[in-house]
Amino acid sequence: MSRIVLGVTGGVAAYKAVELASALRQREHEVDAVLTRAAQAFVTPLAFSSVTGRRAFVDDDLWRAGGDVLHVELAQAAAAVVVAPATADFIARAAAGLGDSLLGLVLLGAPCPVLWAPAMETHMWRHPATQGNLERLRSFGHRIVPPAEGHLASGRSGPGRLPEPAELLAAVEAELRPPQLAGVQVVVTAGPTREHLDPVRFLSNPSTGRMGIAVAEAARDAGADVTLVLGPTEIRPAGGIAVRRVTSAAEMFAAVEEIFERTDVLVATAAVADLRPTQSVERKVKKAELPQSIELERTEDILAFAGAHRRPGQVLVGFAAETQDPEAEARRKLKEKSCDLVVGNDVLSPGAGFAVDTNLCTFVTAHGAWQVGPASKREIGEEIVAFVAQRLGR
Ligand code: CTP
Repeated sequence: MSRIVLGVTGGVAAYKAVELASALRQREHEVDAVLTRAAQAFVTPLAFSSVTGRRAFVDDDLWRAGGDVLHVELAQAAAAVVVAPATADFIARAAAGLGDSLLGLVLLGAPCPVLWAPAMETHMWRHPATQGNLERLRSFGHRIVPPAEGHLASGRSGPGRLPEPAELLAAVEAELRPPQLAGVQVVVTAGPTREHLDPVRFLSNPSTGRMGIAVAEAARDAGADVTLVLGPTEIRPAGGIAVRRVTSAAEMFAAVEEIFERTDVLVATAAVADLRPTQSVERKVKKAELPQSIELERTEDILAFAGAHRRPGQVLVGFAAETQDPEAEARRKLKEKSCDLVVGNDVLSPGAGFAVDTNLCTFVTAHGAWQVGPASKREIGEEIVAFVAQRLGR
């Protein structure tokens, strides 16, 4: 049994929030319903207090409260806040951090999980402003329950319907469970490295870091403490992740080496350059002075180091980006680098590899191999997190 703030905003689906409040009560949760002014055009506080057996709140309660701090009390007591239905307008206000309503203030003060159930016309849902605002809410660590497809108030059909109360109840209760990787220290290497010859010339590769960022975000959402050791890339990870920016393989190696002792899980997605020039100079070398050939040396193998120094209980995940037979190569790297899992992928197959949002992978462990995808890099990241959680016995 938990105390839950149910935020209700002004959409026609607000009547379903009464059913959700009732379902939460039947599961013995204490529900503090908070209605925005617009919500009151569709439903009344009385409807909520009738099914929750508790007072329901509106903006006037805040303005009338005088010296006491209703929004702080509600925010601090909540085990979760769920906003259902969430209108495009209210999502925009919350994304901007506005505190011009009781619900807006509760959201600003709530240290607990926050769940959004948007419901609106399909065009409003797809509008870049709405999607951008939802992205911002995600960056706060909030979770979005995507709307269902179906009949909408306009008479049209498409995505935008508020999911059924039973589905919302399940989503709220999932938020209340302790996150799978709570307290686990996860380190993810990502992106390319650059091995400079001089300040304007380097050896590198086309990696963008997308796969590693997706893994880091999935691990963060599973409750892990995530450090992302990130090579040079334009792509910026979302919030809630400690990012250590590095340039060269040597810097990436030093960053991982320094924290490896207190790392529980290392996921090495980085496309580390295998070679670097033996000489790197601080000033640009003039064309006329450029050597005909460059002497190269091997860089540190970060994952192999981790495999050689792993302590019992640590989990190591590697990648094998290949152009032929990714499964066999993944199996070889699993042994050579003492990993628990190596994710092989064929970088030449369409919809996989560098700089795209999807991937098709073969997961290889000592016990077998299975295919994952084609799926988004985020979904692959979630599969990796699920494997890690299982390995850690969670
Ligand atoms: N890796 C690493 N440090 C390196 C090279 C690779 O940590 N210097 C990690 C990668 O992040 C990946 C795995 O090792 O998780 C395999 O990388 P890959 O480049 O596919 O393999 P290599 O070890 O370079 O082997 P090969 O060139 O034989 O395919």
